[in-house]
Amino acid sequence: MPQHSIAVAAAEPGLQARATALAEELSLPTLAQLPEPLARLLITSERLELRACGPDAPGAIAVDFAAGGLRYRRRGGHNEPLGRAVGVGKWQDLSVVDATAGLGRDSFVLADLGCRVTLLEREAPVYALLRDGLARGRAGDDPWVADVCGRMHLLQADARQWLADHSPDVVYLDPMFPARRKSARVKKDMWLFQQLLEANDPADGLLEAALAAARKRVVVKRPARETPLAGREPGFVIPGKTVRFDVYLPAPAADTGNGG
Ligand SMILES: C[S@@+](CC[C@H](N)C(=O)[O-])C[C@H]1O[C@@H](n2cnc3c(N)ncnc32)[C@H](O)[C@@H]1O
Repeated sequence: MPQHSIAVAAAEPGLQARATALAEELSLPTLAQLPEPLARLLITSERLELRACGPDAPGAIAVDFAAGGLRYRRRGGHNEPLGRAVGVGKWQDLSVVDATAGLGRDSFVLADLGCRVTLLEREAPVYALLRDGLARGRAGDDPWVADVCGRMHLLQADARQWLADHSPDVVYLDPMFPARRKSARVKKDMWLFQQLLEANDPADGLLEAALAAARKRVVVKRPARETPLAGREPGFVIPGKTVRFDVYLPAPAADTGNGG
């Protein structure tokens, strides 16, 4: 993210020391240093949130694993295609690296399906939101959320470098949706990320790094009608109405590619 666009702020004077410390840790300015940012990373008494500034700004973004959406997604069976894509049921005790962790929703689904998930997030403000959400999830009073968050391990890293030194079973990629798909179809948080992220293609080199690292599969989430990432045809596809999962088999001997 451009360093000049986000300032760390405190929602009340008593939280200012925490805001200053967080700004220092993340190498971001405080509101005093950058009085007119595009967005504020705001410490409130309950949580950390990202708030865009300006009249048309969407609401606050925060990571809340106990909120209804993930539970609903689970009950409705929406998580099954992602599970099949990574190979839940085919292999036991899968280690999955979510190399584009974002707000951690897909990671949470994977951990709920029993995977051990390492989350990699490059952008400091997003990493901080995720760290805050995981800490609240683990300490909260919902045993299901605490248990699932316990299988999630977060690191701030550029996945392209991190993957060069590691060999997980599966690498999962959900690169930023293309900017032209703004509007109602892209959720407000992704829209804000698009506004704040640097113009360079965040998916550059990611697929290659993932294919070199993964032992069993690389799974890429794509909008249903978009071309495959980097123009590279997958081994097989788990289709869906709005998104699909493209599955790559980096080591042909390790998988028969039947989606199970
Ligand atoms: C579309 S979002 C992922 C959303 C996520 N699947 C979820 O469920 O919330 C993509 C994220 O990947 C991150 N990202 C992009 N390139 C990266 C890289 N090379 N290493 C680590 N993170 C990266 C971006 O900062 C962004 O937060």
